[in-house]
Amino acid sequence: MRIAVLLSGRGTNLQALIEKVHGFDGEIVAVASDHEEAPGLRLARRADILTRSFELAQFADRSARDNAIADWLDQNEVELVVLAGYMALLDDSFIARFRDRIINVHPSLLPAFPGTRAVELAVESGVKVFGVTVHLVDERIDTGPILLQRAIELPGYSDPTEVHKILQAIEHELLPEGVRLMIRGAVSRDPANPQRLIIEP
Ligand code: GAR
Repeated sequence: MRIAVLLSGRGTNLQALIEKVHGFDGEIVAVASDHEEAPGLRLARRADILTRSFELAQFADRSARDNAIADWLDQNEVELVVLAGYMALLDDSFIARFRDRIINVHPSLLPAFPGTRAVELAVESGVKVFGVTVHLVDERIDTGPILLQRAIELPGYSDPTEVHKILQAIEHELLPEGVRLMIRGAVSRDPANPQRLIIEP
């Protein structure tokens, strides 16, 4: 399966996908970012993967930018889009063009703590159980059907950076696992409740 990764930052999740999926079950054929300087783009180039940045300033608005990203992914015959720390919103028309073919990794147990400050908000809330979610992406923020979730008890932690580091180690296992399920075609929506996913064993 031809996979694209969208990222905004360091790209440690991209690295996990390169190590665990790329060249095995699937092929990462394109990596895009909303930031030209995202370290994750350099990581991709080192792995000989095609990259491109789509800075908002180059376009009339976000919708035009997201349309250009979707066109670029189509040109590269991308079948699955993986959001690995992509911190910008995606336009509804982008979501529609890749309906049920976009997955995201998020550092909380959704539906708790959606958005870009998930770990900080969880720590501020004093929760004792943290976690990671891999989910399909829909038009709203972090609300799409859940594919995989893993929880971890961290009762004594008050530093978001420390918590995030622990959660990222989980992400690096869970995201490749989610991508493999998508590649295998093991994921479908429950006809009785489309918010729930049925996963073939
Ligand atoms: C990841 O921890 C991911 O969960 C988070 O961004 C980080 C990117 O790290 N995403 C979100 O918060 C999305 N709302 P990486 O660039 O090292 O893979």
